[in-house]
Amino acid sequence: MSRAAVELDGIWKRFPGVIANAGASLTVRPGTVHAVLGVNGAGKTTLMNCLAGVYLPDEGAIRIGGQEVRFSSPADALAAGIGMVHQEFRLVPTFTVAENVVLGAAPRVLDMAAVNREVAALAERFGFDADPERPVWQLSMGERQRVEILKALWRDAKVLILDEPTAVLTPQEAVELGAVLRRMVDEGRAVIFISHKLDEVTSFCDEATVLRGGKTVASSIAISDVDAGQLAELMVGSSSAATPISPRVGVPGDVMLAVADLTVTDSRGLTAVDALSLEVRSGEIVGIAGVAGNGQRSLTDAIAGLELVDSGSVTINGSDVTTAGTRQRVDAGLAYIPEDRLGVGLAPKLPVTHNAVMRGYRDMRQGPMLSWERAKSFCNDLIDRFEVKVGRIDDPMASLSGGNLQRLLLGRELSSDPSVVVASQPTRGLDVAGVGAIQSLLVSQRDEGTGVLMISEDLDELLALADRILVMSEGRIVGEFDPRAASRAEIGEAMMGAHA
Ligand SMILES: Nc1ncnc2c1ncn2[C@@H]1O[C@H](COP(=O)(O)OP(=O)(O)O)[C@@H](O)[C@H]1O
Ligand SMILES: [Mg+2]
Repeated sequence: MSRAAVELDGIWKRFPGVIANAGASLTVRPGTVHAVLGVNGAGKTTLMNCLAGVYLPDEGAIRIGGQEVRFSSPADALAAGIGMVHQEFRLVPTFTVAENVVLGAAPRVLDMAAVNREVAALAERFGFDADPERPVWQLSMGERQRVEILKALWRDAKVLILDEPTAVLTPQEAVELGAVLRRMVDEGRAVIFISHKLDEVTSFCDEATVLRGGKTVASSIAISDVDAGQLAELMVGSSSAATPISPRVGVPGDVMLAVADLTVTDSRGLTAVDALSLEVRSGEIVGIAGVAGNGQRSLTDAIAGLELVDSGSVTINGSDVTTAGTRQRVDAGLAYIPEDRLGVGLAPKLPVTHNAVMRGYRDMRQGPMLSWERAKSFCNDLIDRFEVKVGRIDDPMASLSGGNLQRLLLGRELSSDPSVVVASQPTRGLDVAGVGAIQSLLVSQRDEGTGVLMISEDLDELLALADRILVMSEGRIVGEFDPRAASRAEIGEAMMGAHA
């Protein structure tokens, strides 16, 4: 057997009140894509942060090519050939692609034309399509991720860690990423691929290590020896009861959300939403299916008051809010679960308490001041009711795992009895348990009479949850389907732009 590219041996990492890694181990061979699997909170990100020099483990050894190392910073790890692409990107939006790639790794004076050429050549070598001169703020999430990967390759990383890279990608982009990873390992590098999408793991990866509760429960299993079901069982243990999804009872009530003839131009000057109309009634879940990038984000942002509207109207619970501010929309009964949880919905650096009360702080005043007593008890109540796992309520929001962030966000939004919930990709990036929890929250909200508009790229999720499915393509609704009667093929065809 060839020598390991990376070996993590008996890693312990504790945070106040939480043991994130409890003796975890991982061995990755060069020339392989190695999956690290585990439900939210299993300790995957923490273990990778130990390898990438972000944290110093409390105990345990890290060996690179057989040599024990001790990193005190990410720069140390990079110098030893370990590069990591974090879940939240760390790029400078106003810099170009090439400037971001070389930032921190180049002399002060640069021949930018030469750098642009070299970055373009590097991108081409790995089969990326990247324009070195475009500013990063103009790029999609998928394109930004490529810049992060180029950054690591520019520094000649021998081991590339990708923390849930496909959570921000469309299914098509995910397939393309799989091909890029294959090229990297063909050159002898090792890739550590964190995901809980088992179909990706079985199609992109060579081996897998599974973490549960901070421990390694299976090491370096050959993917060819297992199926997705066995991997899922290792991740969740044997008690994996999937939440049954109950169909709607009774008939939908009044219109809670009406979007009429809405047209929105996005920041690139393109028509993102094109004279679109839809209605969501009390007691129904309306699903919007479609490949990301077909205007879904502009639609939900326009409903929430985060994006300007060219023409048309948005009505919430009978009041026209087309030109209203975000606060007035909340008062009219809107709850919004944005796609970008840590960008729009939550403040990553502020404590959990602040995030919990961001919406309802006006009800927690004592005179002109916020009552901290009330804020804390509100926060603790949310944590209990929505089963949010937190170290301490004073910890920064960003320390929570994805599923717990989403539970807190949804709990906060639902606690004010909204008449309509707009949820954008609410389960994306969550593990099996997190997906089930969020889905059943949305279903019970519907059963209590709220209208739910749910945007998802996961057609199976919409088929299981939605009472009606609308298909969005190129800014328009191109079809409406009854999930109990329609076939996946029919809906898929509409998604691909086969306009009726
Ligand atoms: N900086 C931190 N401070 C406190 N707790 C943390 C921190 N980072 C992670 N945790 C906790 O450690 C556990 C493991 O988290 P993480 O490594 O992010 O898991 P995963 O990536 O598998 O979802 C979780 O309970 C999480 O809340
Ligand atoms: Mg993680």
